[in-house]
Amino acid sequence: MLTAAAALMVPPPLRFAEATSPAPIDLTARQRSLSLLPDAGATPIWGYADQWPLVLRTRRGEVFRAALHNELTEHSTIHWHGIRLPVAMDGVPYMTQPPVEPGQSFAYEFTPPDAGTFFFHPHCDTVTQLGRGLAGALIVEDPAERDLFAADLVCAIKDWQLNPDGSFGAFMTMKGAARAGTFGNIETANAQPLAEMQAPSGGWVRLRVLNLDSSRIAVLNLAGAEGRIIATDGNPLASNSAPVPVKGWRLGPAMRVDIAFRMPDDPSAIVEFQNIFGTAPKPIAHITSDGTSAKAPDGWPQLAASHVPEADPESAQRISFDLTAGHTSPELEAWLKESGLGLDALCLPGQTFWAINGQAWAGQSHQFTPPPLADLKLGKPYIFEIFNGTPHQHPIHLHGHTFRVLRSNEKNIVPHLADTVLLAPKERVEICFIADNPGDWMMHCHIIEHQETGMMGYVRIG
Ligand code: C2O
Ligand code: CU
Repeated sequence: MLTAAAALMVPPPLRFAEATSPAPIDLTARQRSLSLLPDAGATPIWGYADQWPLVLRTRRGEVFRAALHNELTEHSTIHWHGIRLPVAMDGVPYMTQPPVEPGQSFAYEFTPPDAGTFFFHPHCDTVTQLGRGLAGALIVEDPAERDLFAADLVCAIKDWQLNPDGSFGAFMTMKGAARAGTFGNIETANAQPLAEMQAPSGGWVRLRVLNLDSSRIAVLNLAGAEGRIIATDGNPLASNSAPVPVKGWRLGPAMRVDIAFRMPDDPSAIVEFQNIFGTAPKPIAHITSDGTSAKAPDGWPQLAASHVPEADPESAQRISFDLTAGHTSPELEAWLKESGLGLDALCLPGQTFWAINGQAWAGQSHQFTPPPLADLKLGKPYIFEIFNGTPHQHPIHLHGHTFRVLRSNEKNIVPHLADTVLLAPKERVEICFIADNPGDWMMHCHIIEHQETGMMGYVRIG
């Protein structure tokens, strides 16, 4: 029997506000055209709107409604990446909702419990759909932050695999899927080779950076101003956290950071946001003066505190997840046999390169669901100890929860909240969270070719 005091120590399951009724945002997924190559024809991208990136803004604690209308040639869904929402709104076909067939619609509705920089994308044939550009940014605002910044800018990184005439090349290659992923040959930010943005001279800038690419890992730097990371995957760093410089931050697919910096007073100054992954820094964006000037209050802007419940690592149960190159485990094969299914229920033969805990779940669809990687008890704290036993990096994403990245065996980490954690080869990382959201929640690599070729599973919370 639990005493009242002990019962109180178990945090209640995440609760969601009752729906009111703002008009739903119309998101029609269809082919649209975007000019990506200056000397070629427009590219037939897939989008929810004609502008790329599409940036939606809503408020923390308010009902958000969006209607997906599928005018594509294949089924789709929308996954609201990083939002802690009810599982029925999570957008995983077959698992959390039926796929939305061409000509059909689906109404999404949830109340974001956290402010921050999020995004949304399909969870079907993702290599093609995201490869063609089907994604958008979802900015959840906190009214308490209204006066912190003179400018609030969005920078969405995405590369495109294009033929010289502007049409798409192959989104997936066996060589890429078995290694670091297939890279686009046209690198862009906000669909430009170099994103150009403006902000008032002397003012504080919030630069929201989203990696919407399927494969590329960018290493960030800011030149021309001192920048600090103030939020990771949308979540504010704690006010007592050590400062996190921008330089060297590795932003894998699906990861976001919010960067704060003060624009120089000199109206002719250029602040350059860079990718320093290669030998020479590559500019991603230029931020210049908009011709006005702003007074910046002293001291770094402090975002409103996070609403993510803190798990106590001391009382958390540990579960290991090993990322390996791999094939389907003998246990899973036996289970498939028992269920009267063949191996091809899990993957297209020859397309399984990766596994989590020896279990590979691959495939362009989710028509078939293997057993969960782990069963978690609702309301209990967990530490996931994730080990990367492969020679490649993997950004691992857990749906429906925001975790704290506690430590790594490879580097000193400033503990921070995230929904996606990037692991270097041989790195072991610990993440901690409260399993407060009931349902089956995907956990997978966000290098989409890795996800599609086996590095995908789910945990069950109930
Ligand atoms: Cu953004 Cu299951 O992913
Ligand atoms: Cu991976």
